[in-house]
Amino acid sequence: MPSKTKNEKVRSFFVDLCLNFVGGLRALSLYPPQHPETIKKMDNLFERLNRYLAQRPSLAMLFIHGDVVVENSPLPELRDKLVRITKLLEAMKLQRILFRRGLTQAELLGFMQLILPLLKNPEGADLVLARNQGRLPHIQAGALPLEAGPKVSYDEVSSAIQAARDVVLSFSDQLKDLFADIEGPLAPAKLSSAKEITEEIQGMVLGGDMPLKTLIYRRSEDPDPHIHAINVCALSMALGREMEMEESPVLDVGLAALLHDVGWYLPISANFKQTQAITLDERKRQWEHPVLGAEILLATPNMPDLAPVVAYEHHIHYDGTGFPKQERPRDLNFASLITCITNTYDNLRRKRPGSTAHSLKDSLNWMDRKAGTLFHPLVYQCFRALVKAQAEEDL
Ligand SMILES: [Fe+2]
Ligand SMILES: [Fe+2]
Repeated sequence: MPSKTKNEKVRSFFVDLCLNFVGGLRALSLYPPQHPETIKKMDNLFERLNRYLAQRPSLAMLFIHGDVVVENSPLPELRDKLVRITKLLEAMKLQRILFRRGLTQAELLGFMQLILPLLKNPEGADLVLARNQGRLPHIQAGALPLEAGPKVSYDEVSSAIQAARDVVLSFSDQLKDLFADIEGPLAPAKLSSAKEITEEIQGMVLGGDMPLKTLIYRRSEDPDPHIHAINVCALSMALGREMEMEESPVLDVGLAALLHDVGWYLPISANFKQTQAITLDERKRQWEHPVLGAEILLATPNMPDLAPVVAYEHHIHYDGTGFPKQERPRDLNFASLITCITNTYDNLRRKRPGSTAHSLKDSLNWMDRKAGTLFHPLVYQCFRALVKAQAEEDL
């Protein structure tokens, strides 16, 4: 049958692509990048990816429990052949690589050079990948987000969690485009994409396609900054609703929350970060990102006023401490009080350079002690009510 032949052709193309991917890694591990053998292997890989991406916007490779899946096609024939590499990728928590249209040969080489030492030294590899996302505008690599907790296997996760994971995956791909190549004010297309994403997230939270339970209770340790932005956006809108805000201001809160860390996306330096250690550049960026973010958003035409305010204020505490340092006490915007809570919660639950992910219980215990200092006590009370309501829904 012709369709079967076509399917077979596609499958053998995927198999060949995976073998070339491994071939490229192997060549790079043996020879320098300028060596003819490395050049040949990397050319082969790039040519195949490029050919596919000329027809489709992206190509996803998954490595899960020893299985290789390309574009939803499981490739069991690779299981034995690639057993070593899939184990190494698993050890570094690299379950998914998404290549996107626009990929260049230099970016592909940079990515391969980035993961090579991590294969040998997988400790903290997910953090290293997350930190380098900004330098890889057409490659997204990391763990599958919202993966089930350690006691539940990949196959056993409930359909709701799987659906939520798929949703977050697709949004994180869109966010990757949104945050790529930011050098100043956001282009009109980026602003409309941010608004669309916010509306879709709102619709999915309301419709139960992105259950809050999974964002609150089953938040994976994934350090990916895009997933953080999605979670903070969804949780902030949910908290806004919990506080009986109208629909349109809730969407403004969501947009502001989605963009709260936009100041992180201005390029720091052209070099890849190979370790977990935080550089001085990044430390400086941590202090500066609220101001940089507010500047980008203020300069963006038609940006709702709330967004630069939240970008500026999301690290200022209810008692006036935090940063940017304030010379005199000021009232924080209501949306900033919300985002301060949801951002802190999501940061506690994910891995970050220099700190491990905290459990739900530890995070809430810590946050409970900060009501009235770090957090507005009444807004925090509503956040706790939201968390409790999700727990009770389970019973
Ligand atoms: Fe931040
Ligand atoms: Fe944040």
